Amino acid sequence: MIPSVAGHQQNPLLEQPDRGPPRRLGVIGAGTIGPDIAYYLLSEFAAAELVLIDIREPALEQARTRLAAYAEKGRQRGKLTADRAAGLMPRLTTSCDYAALTGCDWVIEAATENLPLKRQIFANIEQHAGKDCLITSNTSSLPAARLFAELDIQGRATVTHFFAPAFQNPIVEIVAWPGITARNLAWLRRLFAATGKVPLTTADVVCFMLDRIFDNWCNESGLLLANGTAAEIDAVAREFVHAGPFYVLNMANGNPIIVETNSLQADEEGEHYRPAAIFSSVRRWQTLEPGQKAEIPEPRRAAIRERLLGILFSQTADILDRRIGEAQDLELGARLAFGLRQGPLALMRSAGETEVKRIVARLHKERPGMPGLQRPLAAYLDFQRFVLVDRCDEVVVITLRRPEALNALHDELNAEILGAIRAFENDPTVRGFVLTGYGTRAFCAGADIDRFPSMLGDAQAAAQYARDCSPVLLHLDRMQKPVVAAINGMALGGGLELAMRCHALVAIDEAVLQFPEVTLGIAPGIGALVVPYRRWPRAASTFHRMLAAGERVTAREALAAGILDRCVSTHGELLARAVELARNPGRARPVPAAPGAGIGRPETGQAGPGGERLSAKVQEIIAAAVVAAADETDLDAALEIGYRAFGESACTEAAREGIKAFGERRKPDFSATG
Ligand code: COA
Repeated sequence: MIPSVAGHQQNPLLEQPDRGPPRRLGVIGAGTIGPDIAYYLLSEFAAAELVLIDIREPALEQARTRLAAYAEKGRQRGKLTADRAAGLMPRLTTSCDYAALTGCDWVIEAATENLPLKRQIFANIEQHAGKDCLITSNTSSLPAARLFAELDIQGRATVTHFFAPAFQNPIVEIVAWPGITARNLAWLRRLFAATGKVPLTTADVVCFMLDRIFDNWCNESGLLLANGTAAEIDAVAREFVHAGPFYVLNMANGNPIIVETNSLQADEEGEHYRPAAIFSSVRRWQTLEPGQKAEIPEPRRAAIRERLLGILFSQTADILDRRIGEAQDLELGARLAFGLRQGPLALMRSAGETEVKRIVARLHKERPGMPGLQRPLAAYLDFQRFVLVDRCDEVVVITLRRPEALNALHDELNAEILGAIRAFENDPTVRGFVLTGYGTRAFCAGADIDRFPSMLGDAQAAAQYARDCSPVLLHLDRMQKPVVAAINGMALGGGLELAMRCHALVAIDEAVLQFPEVTLGIAPGIGALVVPYRRWPRAASTFHRMLAAGERVTAREALAAGILDRCVSTHGELLARAVELARNPGRARPVPAAPGAGIGRPETGQAGPGGERLSAKVQEIIAAAVVAAADETDLDAALEIGYRAFGESACTEAAREGIKAFGERRKPDFSATG
């Protein structure tokens, strides 16, 4: 059971920690993951120094070379500015002497999985770093209570478990063990979220949450070698993951880790977790390279598939029944940390109760002792997948969380936003709502473009899709209680349309507001051609440029144009201000009446934000709809004009090219599309 999560905010940026950002950091271990963690810290905390400690000078030398190469690659790929890249290595020192940790405010241990060794390292850290220094371990398996049993000050220590590559993979497990203080836990969660990570809180059990999935998935694959080859098992596994277990084990030299972690689970929880003997005798597996295929007879394929699914279902049920982690976190973490195409709960949902039970019963027969479902399947599936819901006294904060798609909106996310509002709007203790995006990069990057290809060329279907996306927006228009948009990063397309239907808008200074649809060869369909002109008619010329040319507007410009109610400089302030506004703004403001012809007409023939050519045809569809909607006195009828304009644009050659280009990660070419 996660002990100290109660009382914590689900959105870590709502935490109000009483420590500033770290100024001097330490990482222990220059092996595989230590330097990757060091690179993450150095690139995120530009004002901090970092000391990397190892017992071997050559390892430190190699780590220095690796970090310099990362910085150069980061610069070349535009992830780091030239200044940031140049300033990175001078902030790094390496040492074999723990005394170099003096003055550190956070030290992360990333040494070998060996309890006595780790305890010795913590003793060394305690000896040299100050009393306030946080100490965290990157262990993937050893419980915090065991690791930190001998520390003088336990409240400053916990596990922060990164996933490879540590500077890229957003997931970090943070162990909420009873020893750590609530304020230190809050600081860590907030700090990770503010640096683009997705911290997931877990209980203090061996292997925590996500490695119970991964290690047992790998171990089951080892046991399945009785049924098929490594290549065959990887090929079947690829139905569910981007890379099969043996391929991943080769990449990570992971066989000893499976022996280690599954032995730990077996010792604590039963023989059924004992690692397959073969992991101790094989160094590398003969398996498929990416793209290579294997012919597998169907009965064998089914036997492998069902065991792999069985272990996923078994471990998922066990994690949730024992409250090791939250369903939403497990689902997201399993996808982002290990590359599962769908989370285990989504797989269970699509399999259905009868099939899940059959698969788990088969697992029990072949692998007695493995946990099964303790409750009906529906009980495991009853959770919100894409929103976090927090209370800040009388205000409900709804956070959109799809970090892998910059919080882009799809049907389920839309439905969950509406569901969260409905759940609280008649609650007399709730005065208002805040809508925000997870993390610091994006409020919301718009409607999910992956849905668009299916509706290209079908005006009716596309217009219907726009209507189907709108219930949450229509609900916002008619609400009695205020909803404030806290724009924590880019607000694009449908994301900006969502923010503009809120009753007040607050943004962080670096937020960018944009309707990029025209750059994709389509018209924005869920209110952008209508609502902005009614709410802020004096900013009509800005909206004309945004809609017909995809112009990006900074938060400060939007404030000056009257679109935003407030701009703030920090994320903490953003949420605090938004909550304050939601508490005290009076009643929600409905969308005002039609602005009429006075707003003018967007100009066609304009170039895009980078000077690129856009589709004149789509610009014409946008301009005509803006003009028609401006005269329409009935809001629903005006919105209908917008839905149909989106439908019309979806039938253009420009849409075909724009959406295809997005899928292929290239710039569209509208020179021949009209
Ligand atoms: N729908 C679906 N996925 C989206 C998305 C959207 N609206 N916006 C971003 N994503 C996904 C990307 O496909 C990418 O996924 P991947 O990692 O699987 O490739 C991920 O979010 C991160 O985005 P990425 O493009 O790699 O980040 P970036 O920093 O290079 O660019 C943007 C950021 C916002 C400029 C770019 O993602 C973009 O142009 N998005 C589309 C915005 C848009 O047109 N919105 C209106 C839609 S109607």
